Amino acid sequence: MSSDPSAAGLPRATGRLTSTAPWWRDAVVYEVYPRSFADSDGDGTGDLAGLIGRLDHVTSLGVDALWIAPWYPSPMADGGYDVSDYRDIHPDFGALADADVLIAEAHRRGLRVITDMVANHTSAEHPWFRAALAAAPGSAERTRYFFRDGRGEHGELPPNNWISAFGASAWTRTTDPDGHPGQWYLHTFAPEQPDLDWSSDDVRAEFDGILRFWFDRGVDGLRIDAAPAMAKVPGLPDADYGGQAYFASAEWVGNPHWDVDGVHEIFRRWRAVAREYDGDRVLVAEAVVASPQRLSLYLRPDELQTAFNFAFLKAAWGPGLRAVIDETLASHATVGASATWVLGSHDETRLVTRLGRDDTAAVHLVDPALAPSDPALGTRRARAATLLMLALPGSAYLYQGDELGLPFVEDIPGELRQDPVYHRSHGALPGRDGSRVPMPWAGDRPPFGFTVDGVTPWLPQPASWRDLTVAAEDADPTSMLGLVRDALRLRRRFAAEPSLTWQPSAASVLDFTRGEHHRCVVNLSPTPVRLDPPWSVAIASAPVRDGVLPPDATAWLSR
Ligand code: GLC
Repeated sequence: MSSDPSAAGLPRATGRLTSTAPWWRDAVVYEVYPRSFADSDGDGTGDLAGLIGRLDHVTSLGVDALWIAPWYPSPMADGGYDVSDYRDIHPDFGALADADVLIAEAHRRGLRVITDMVANHTSAEHPWFRAALAAAPGSAERTRYFFRDGRGEHGELPPNNWISAFGASAWTRTTDPDGHPGQWYLHTFAPEQPDLDWSSDDVRAEFDGILRFWFDRGVDGLRIDAAPAMAKVPGLPDADYGGQAYFASAEWVGNPHWDVDGVHEIFRRWRAVAREYDGDRVLVAEAVVASPQRLSLYLRPDELQTAFNFAFLKAAWGPGLRAVIDETLASHATVGASATWVLGSHDETRLVTRLGRDDTAAVHLVDPALAPSDPALGTRRARAATLLMLALPGSAYLYQGDELGLPFVEDIPGELRQDPVYHRSHGALPGRDGSRVPMPWAGDRPPFGFTVDGVTPWLPQPASWRDLTVAAEDADPTSMLGLVRDALRLRRRFAAEPSLTWQPSAASVLDFTRGEHHRCVVNLSPTPVRLDPPWSVAIASAPVRDGVLPPDATAWLSR
């Protein structure tokens, strides 16, 4: 198959900004979590054939690309972010041939395909890690990871005080072949996800090959998992967590295992690989870092083209959004990058649930008993927030199910939960499973067309989702699905205008124009707002009557 998207019928650029602007600068990308999208073979787990069978839903939205969460062979200790073979497909999802068909079918429909690259760590089942465990301390096999002797008289203490992003020590002690306790190894995430040492030439060369493997198969881009974790301060000094017993990765600069400046050299190398290919292959970073300035370092012209904007995702629903937007645009402009807006993913509380809480900034997954959510309020705000996101200059990511307004499922029985965040916190944190419940397609009871009738999906779907299926919302033009489709159609006009200009407004109203003819007004206040008469409403997240925009609503205006 061809690796050239233009040969596959894709325009080389969207033509929406200028005729030469790369496609990713203003693309809308739809995240697919393959386990939970569509199951074709009745095993209760989504697969690539299921996804291929549902591509029409994706094209019906009007998005430009898919980002597919990890699809590689994996023991699934962390939902596939523990990869045991980077050059194949998980047997539950299909085979390499299915990936080829998927890429071709997506391209045929004008959709680009971004896959996930998990390079901070492998699975503990990866042949490299198994070989490292079998080899002696100091061996070449161990230098691909971080193996260290423990502290204390008998090496019984971890080599340093680093904390895992999933809680507890970031080190696990190994057992030597003779049964004695051995060295320790580092894992920024779960113990089943040992960190690779990116100062190793073997590691660098191996990933150059993995990148080429997927670019050769025609993928249009890579989403780089846990990008800021990929370099560590040499010598692995203790971190000063300021008394916190948790990771708090993004909150400070100077963490010896997060956002260390050494990461940038890795991404310059990856960009050089991407440049070997035509068709504007894009690299998008998952980089939760302390400030927009730190983020912009990833976006220098010889590094990654785009990076998710977590500041926007984490911001409270309120006037503070304006500062986040301004800081993002200003910091990205310093390096000539376009912004990448995102409101949800397989890692975050569903938007509808978050925005229905008192503390709307609390994206950290919290106990639902402590943070009850009002679904009607959450849905109203999620509609408004989605229109805001889609009106901003840059690209935007939509997580599967957010186009339906799915809520976070809070009552999954403990024994069915799979997320290591839940298990490692001994149930104190609900984990992310609630955002990963399989898609409801049609029908009035589970499995809602996700899998064969009578089969139980890998996570249970709430019966109440009967009103939130694709089929149900398809029949209702006022649904979230209808809103998203209409907005994506209209967005093409907004996106043609590169700049954003704020209009005078109260602090609790966001009011900006895109060029002469397009305007977006977001009412974050508790009272209605009157819209200027010469402008007409192109689309609104809630009914606008007599020119009045209700609270928690967004309108796009044109003239
Ligand atoms: C990223 C992924 C998340 C995963 C983690 C470790 O944050 O999005 O799902 O648990 O990296 O790979």
